[in-house]
Formats: sequence, C-alpha cells, structure tokens
Amino acid sequence: MAEHDAPQDNPDGRMDRNLALEAVRATECAALASARLMGHGDERAADQAAIEAMHHTLGFIGIDGVIAVGEGDAGETRLLHSGERIGTGAGPSVDIAVDALEGSTIVARGGQNALSVIAFAGQGGFLNPPRVYMDKIAVGPDLPADVVDLDAPPRDNLSALAAAKGVAVRDLLVCILDRPRHESLIAEVRACGARVMLIPDGDVSAAIATAHGGPDVGPDIYLGTGGAAEGVLAAAALKCAGGQMQGRLRLRSEAERTAAMRLGIVDFDHKYGIADMVKGEVMFAATGVTHGALLQGVRRMPHGVVTHSVVMRSKSGTVRYITAFHQQRRREE
Ligand code: FBP
Repeated sequence: MAEHDAPQDNPDGRMDRNLALEAVRATECAALASARLMGHGDERAADQAAIEAMHHTLGFIGIDGVIAVGEGDAGETRLLHSGERIGTGAGPSVDIAVDALEGSTIVARGGQNALSVIAFAGQGGFLNPPRVYMDKIAVGPDLPADVVDLDAPPRDNLSALAAAKGVAVRDLLVCILDRPRHESLIAEVRACGARVMLIPDGDVSAAIATAHGGPDVGPDIYLGTGGAAEGVLAAAALKCAGGQMQGRLRLRSEAERTAAMRLGIVDFDHKYGIADMVKGEVMFAATGVTHGALLQGVRRMPHGVVTHSVVMRSKSGTVRYITAFHQQRRREE
C-alpha cells in the first residue's frame, strides 16, 4: 500500500522485551484511574482520568515515542494526541497506538468489557486513520488464510467459517455492536441460524475475544462497523494472537475524506488487512477496567487493588496474562 510505507525497525532491530512490561504499566495506571469512576454516569470523566494516567506513565518510559494513533488530533485533545512525542527520549524509537479507555460509556454505566489498551510498533508501523468509522471483520487463529472476506455476504462468511471449524453455522457465535446501523446485518446473521452476541460497546475486546475461544467461550467472528482507531488496535492484538482481520474506512462526508487525505490516505476504498494496519513487529497490552470475557476488571481488596492484564508480542507470539497487586499504602505515598 503506497500511502503506508514499511516501518523502520527501532535501533537494535527488535522490540525490547522489557518494553512489554512498561506497556502494561501504562494500561494498569489508566485502568486504575478510570475504574474509580465506574458507574458514576460520567463517561468524559472516566475517559479523561484514563488519558491523564496513561500520559503520565508513558512520560517516564525509556522510549523516544510518538503517538501514531491517539485520542484525537492536537486540536481535539491536549494529551495523547496523534503526533505527540512521549517518553524520556532515551531509548528505542517507537510509534504508539492508544485507547486509554476503550469503553468509556461502559465504565460510566458500570457495564462489562471496558479495557485500557496500548500497542507499540517501530516507526511508521501503524496505519493512522482519521477519527472515522471502519467496517470490520475478525476471526481467530488456526483458520485457512482468507477464510472470510469483508466483501462477502454474511451467509457466505458464516458457511466458510463453520466449514473451517468443523461445526454447523447454528453453532457459531457472531459478535456485533448493538447499533441501529447494524439492523440489517443482525437480521441477516439471524436468518442464517447463527447465534448472535450483541454488545453495547467495546469492539476491541470483541475482536480479540475471537482469538480466545470457540462456540462456547468467545465469539467465533466479530462483524460490523466501529471506530477506525479501535480497528488498528484490534489488528495489533490479532497480529500477536494469530487471528485474521480486514477493515475498510467508512468516510461519510467531505470533511472525513479531507481528514483522510491529510493523513496521506488516497485510496478511500482500500480493504486493509492486518499487515496493512500494523507493519513489522508489534506488542499489545490491555488491562481490564471492568470485568469482561477477556480480562477481569480492577478489583479493590482490603489493602490494595488488583489488576488483570494481557500482553502479547508478535515476534514471539507469546500471550502473557499478568495479575498485579498494587498496595494501597505505596500508591498513596
Ligand atoms: P470509546 O469508548 O473508546 O470511545 O469506544 C467505544 C466503542 O464502542 C468502540 O469499541 C467502538 O469501536 C466505537 O465505540 C463504536 O462507535 P459508536 O459508539 O459511535 O457506534
């Protein structure tokens, strides 16, 4: 893809393993900050708390970082905006994709599956989309290449996926964001006889969950339209976990097309695969803010707080779960 050139590796030619732990510290801090506001009905406050905490933590990490996929552009948000330089400046040059709080409405309502997420790649490693929607399709690992296609009708995709998994279409679990725009998609999937899991928010965790289970555990497939930045983050996770994903920007106005062009995107109809959205090696980390299928949420204990995170590296394919106990006394010092 011409507009998204190959990334440069960071200086030593590989992502530093220790960075994976630093990435988790950033998502843990954001999760701890936003979880305090669970159920308070204020999604902006929850989002802001996560953004401030993640920004603060990233500032101490030994990287020469640039926020490639941020919380908005410089005019929209002061912290973690796309293009912001972050880190101590001493360390590998990395591009960073963030969603400090994926599911701010979930946290405001005290619902499930809110995460704090981050991904690190080499310079130029991430597709940098404007803040628009993306049509997405995602499935887990160990399936034939291109088993599903964004442009195929749901019926064909579900038949192909069921055949590849050796199950009946009615056994498949299809995850879709519960939105009016998905009314006909939901009807089509139901007409095929597949089971449907409608989620109120949080399609990063939904896409990742396809890599973590079969019919009785996670969804087999994620379908539908959600945020483009969330699509890039999901692609980063699935690149590590071995899943498949395709996405296409949904540019609904001249302003959105202009915003895309400003970011160097010229082919508005391009169907992005994981390799187009995330180039080179990537690491992905997420911490549960509220309880969910992928991760447990932040839990308060008598003398501290427990967080549950996942960190994945594409280079090794490792998927590590980290349960951390954060002592209250030290957090208050
Ligand atoms: P944020 O909380 O990060 O803003 O996103 C929540 C989310 O549900 C995403 O997971 C999803 O991609 C997007 O919003 C869907 O957008 P919309 O709510 O406009 O349908």
